[in-house]
Amino acid sequence: MALWGGRFGEETQNDVKIYSESISFDQRLFKHDIAGSKAHVAMLAKQGIIPQASADAIRSELDKVCERIEKGDFSYDIAKEDIHMHVESALIDVLGAEGARVHSGRSRNDQVALDFRLYLRDAADRLIGKIRNFQKELVAKADAEKETILPGFTHLQHAQVVLLAHHLLAYVEMFDRDAERLADCRKRINVMPLGSGALAGSTLPLDREFVCKELGFDRITRNSMDAVADRDFAIEFTAALATMAMHFSRLSEDLILWSSQEFDFIELSDAFCTGSSLMPQKKNPDVCELTRGKTARVYGSLAAMLTLCKGLPMTYNRDMQEDKVAVFDALDTAELMLAVYPPMIRDMRVKRENMAAAAADPALMATDLAEKLVELGVPFRDAHHRVGAFVKYCKDRNMALDQATLAEMQETIPEATAEFLTLFDPRESVAKRRIPGATGFEPVANQVEFWKKQLLMA
Ligand code: ARG
Repeated sequence: MALWGGRFGEETQNDVKIYSESISFDQRLFKHDIAGSKAHVAMLAKQGIIPQASADAIRSELDKVCERIEKGDFSYDIAKEDIHMHVESALIDVLGAEGARVHSGRSRNDQVALDFRLYLRDAADRLIGKIRNFQKELVAKADAEKETILPGFTHLQHAQVVLLAHHLLAYVEMFDRDAERLADCRKRINVMPLGSGALAGSTLPLDREFVCKELGFDRITRNSMDAVADRDFAIEFTAALATMAMHFSRLSEDLILWSSQEFDFIELSDAFCTGSSLMPQKKNPDVCELTRGKTARVYGSLAAMLTLCKGLPMTYNRDMQEDKVAVFDALDTAELMLAVYPPMIRDMRVKRENMAAAAADPALMATDLAEKLVELGVPFRDAHHRVGAFVKYCKDRNMALDQATLAEMQETIPEATAEFLTLFDPRESVAKRRIPGATGFEPVANQVEFWKKQLLMA
């Protein structure tokens, strides 16, 4: 009979046991569940709700259960539904009536809220550490490519030349905000729900502040109904992961394009690619493609969480058990991304000559001509028009912009001087972008220094 079976006359049907179990996916909460129970019984004894001897026996038995689970010496049974009941029944098996005191003043509703918060708090800290580690790889690569020039794109069309370091550091910024989002959401995770009971608190004189301190929470929840009903902390957490996965997916798309024959800007290490079973010459950027695919799964988790909570009546509803399936899948996927990308970026071979060749397209410097005209006092819209006409002039004659003579240039740009013919050098184009945040050598070197300091890199 189940632990809750007092009022039941019939056994649960087998398919229903399979339908309702969560042990297959919530067993990973065991350490947090046990930590929560240890704090809870310490408090129960302190408050005189259970004998100190019972608390001591329960706490030491909880440690043993924890060791057994860690060693794989613990058997799971779907009849016991979830991790909470597994741990509790393991206590009762050994301690009998003594163990049966552990659940005093507690419901699985506040217990699961506690466990989930403890678990996601650790996960957030772990993820932030892994993001920092990945940022370091990006910064190291940027540091090595501070002189590497390539075309920057908008609409996937050649736009203006940029430094590869600048491009990589753009991702460092994005992942930094992902870490910030996790740190911010951690504040709302780190609130202690135990003592909320099923929904209404408890008639027992529980010391919630004690448990709060014991488990390192910032504060206790203010409203027991809110505490068992809401999962917005988990939604936020998943949203942060979905945003991070989106960033990984964009980086992946760049790497896929760059490793294509058409771009040929980089080569990913063999360790991150696979071959084709049919075409012997193929080397496919599968890891990056899988990231695009797995990002869809993380979005799916976010959609599942929002949909799961939508329209639920107060307070706890069993629907909420499914929250863990969605969140853990997003978490595992995000952790894999953070494991796979640092070495992939480290081992990526940059084909500087090919990037330089693509950056030599003089059309990339058309904006520089227009800005030179602005310096000469021409209103920008007119300058833009003149350079546009020059681009058309060259296109009609099937020549590159840097092939025109000064006289030819002056047909559309009357203000052009000999200096204009020197504006097609990509290195000069980069060098002139000196303002903060621009792709110039100096502002980019400043960015690298900023991040090295920020990330405590040697
Ligand atoms: N396994 C459940 C969950 O994950 C624990 C809470 C169950 N509460 C209940 N009243 N049946 O949500």
